[in-house]
Amino acid sequence: MLDKDQQQLLQSLLDRLTPEQKIWLAGYVQGLTGRLPDAAGAAVASNKPEVHIFYATETGNSKALSLSLMKALKGAGFKAKNNPVNRLKASDIPKNGFSIFLASTHGEGDPPESAVKFFESVRGAADGSLSGLQFATLGLGDKSYQIFCGAATDLEKELIRLGGTAFQEIALFDVDYAAHTPKWVSQTVDALNTIVGDTGPSTAASSFVEAPTVRTGKGYTRLEPVAGQIKHIVNLNDIDSNKQTYHIEIAYEDEVAYSCGDAAGIILPLDADGKEQTPRLYSIASSPSVHENEVHLTVALSTYKKEDGSIGYGVCSKYLADMKEGDALQFYIHQNQMFRLPPDDTDIIMIGPGTGVAPFRSFVYERSERSASGRNWLFFGDQHAHCDFLYQAEWQEHLATDTLHKIDLAFSRDYDHKVYVQHKMKERAKELVDWIEGGARIYVCGAKDPMSHDVEKTLIEIISEQKSLSPDAAADYLADMAEADRYLKDVY
Ligand SMILES: Cc1cc2nc3c(=O)[nH]c(=O)nc-3n(C[C@H](O)[C@H](O)[C@H](O)COP(=O)(O)OP(=O)(O)OC[C@H]3O[C@@H](n4cnc5c(N)ncnc54)[C@H](O)[C@@H]3O)c2cc1C
Ligand SMILES: Cc1cc2nc3c(=O)[nH]c(=O)nc-3n(C[C@H](O)[C@H](O)[C@H](O)COP(=O)(O)O)c2cc1C
Repeated sequence: MLDKDQQQLLQSLLDRLTPEQKIWLAGYVQGLTGRLPDAAGAAVASNKPEVHIFYATETGNSKALSLSLMKALKGAGFKAKNNPVNRLKASDIPKNGFSIFLASTHGEGDPPESAVKFFESVRGAADGSLSGLQFATLGLGDKSYQIFCGAATDLEKELIRLGGTAFQEIALFDVDYAAHTPKWVSQTVDALNTIVGDTGPSTAASSFVEAPTVRTGKGYTRLEPVAGQIKHIVNLNDIDSNKQTYHIEIAYEDEVAYSCGDAAGIILPLDADGKEQTPRLYSIASSPSVHENEVHLTVALSTYKKEDGSIGYGVCSKYLADMKEGDALQFYIHQNQMFRLPPDDTDIIMIGPGTGVAPFRSFVYERSERSASGRNWLFFGDQHAHCDFLYQAEWQEHLATDTLHKIDLAFSRDYDHKVYVQHKMKERAKELVDWIEGGARIYVCGAKDPMSHDVEKTLIEIISEQKSLSPDAAADYLADMAEADRYLKDVY
């Protein structure tokens, strides 16, 4: 369409523009011509191959970025598909096409929980079984952890072992990833354009849309924390409990917004050697609408027995437990796009024993403030009813005002046999499935192991029994729910 001189002129201008200037220019040209970029993109779309984007995410950053990449690819005329790796097997990866993998790292260098099976399948696949595949990998991580971007790095190595060819170098980004990803998206689209022989100007930057829900800037990463002050701190357990769980209210003045489902990252003071140690995350237990300029946390003091028999304490929970009203600390908001409230008219089932109850305090306050018509059902458990019923008075108040509609309690050590939340779920099997079939979302928060695994096993059993499905079909039913954002976990 452009002659050689025009192409050179345009290219030399584009080379000098920042991503933001390219976005402005795209809008300017659109304004002049009145044509939308999708329409322009569609003109070349049919000539370009399909690009498969696969993401492995825990808290939603990789998913949001994959959506932006998909838009940019479509804007550049590629057919692009975007899927989580949750149910993907190595053998499902298209061998003769382009695939782009976005993977975050969690735990201690591990893939996200929902991606574990995919990683196992890739590790178990035969050498050379994906020869022909052309791929690119992007890793999201945090340099304060020992194994930076371990999941993406492993995946890249495995895909090469399977015979794939990386069409561009792996990109690994730290918590300030949002500052770098627009350029990465442009480069990726340019690289694909070069491979398919499209030498025209890239439309990637003009199509790049930052996912709207991801907040960036001061207060949203450990690199730029905000100052908080302890407003209130109280031990929620009674005197003869085996535990100490602190309700901590932190007041702050900065403009930092959070959503129900987010966590707060607590920055620890430098250690004795003057080193920064890793921030610890705590689910936010307050509601942004009700508790303005405050974050509330529910912190279990973690303990262990030292070799000499004395009690040792976890670093951060001890730091927080020792706080007094008026003390200063630093924190940031760790967003979790994968653990959000549903529309107000949707019922929710919240399963959160121990400190897993924290986000559900946030959920119920928020829905109460919004007069949400959806019903709220809580499963809570701990050791003893008389001393470990966290936020008992608040739940009773919510029940009395119809802002909590059902509560089922499992106090494991109050009987001659252990009773956990999953046992209470079994007792309520029929009603649980009725809620699920009526569109309810299920949320699970708290200990990953064994709680979340036992809860999942129980959900599959309940669905299988109540709906007369085989265990495999029931597991698929739950996996479908997860894919539709109706079965959500925040476990640690
Ligand atoms: C998304 C997310 C949300 C979370 N939400 C919450 C929440 O709402 N409430 C909550 O309480 N926690 C929550 N956590 C867990 C929290 O982040 C911390 O991991 C927890 O408080 C322990 O941190 P710590 O610094 O006290 O212990 P660490 O010092 O990190 O120690 C870790 C564990 O090892 C034990 N330990 C330490 N040193 C030794 C040693 N020498 N020998 C043997 N054992 C040892 C400690 O007792 C502790 O159990 C969450 C975690 C995540 C990832
Ligand atoms: C509990 C937890 C553990 C993490 N462990 C690691 C790690 O071991 N290595 C790393 O590079 N990043 C680690 N991260 C950082 C995440 O990979 C990073 O926040 C990323 O942006 C998350 O992307 P996602 O929302 O797509 O999951 C961890 C984050 C959390 C919350």
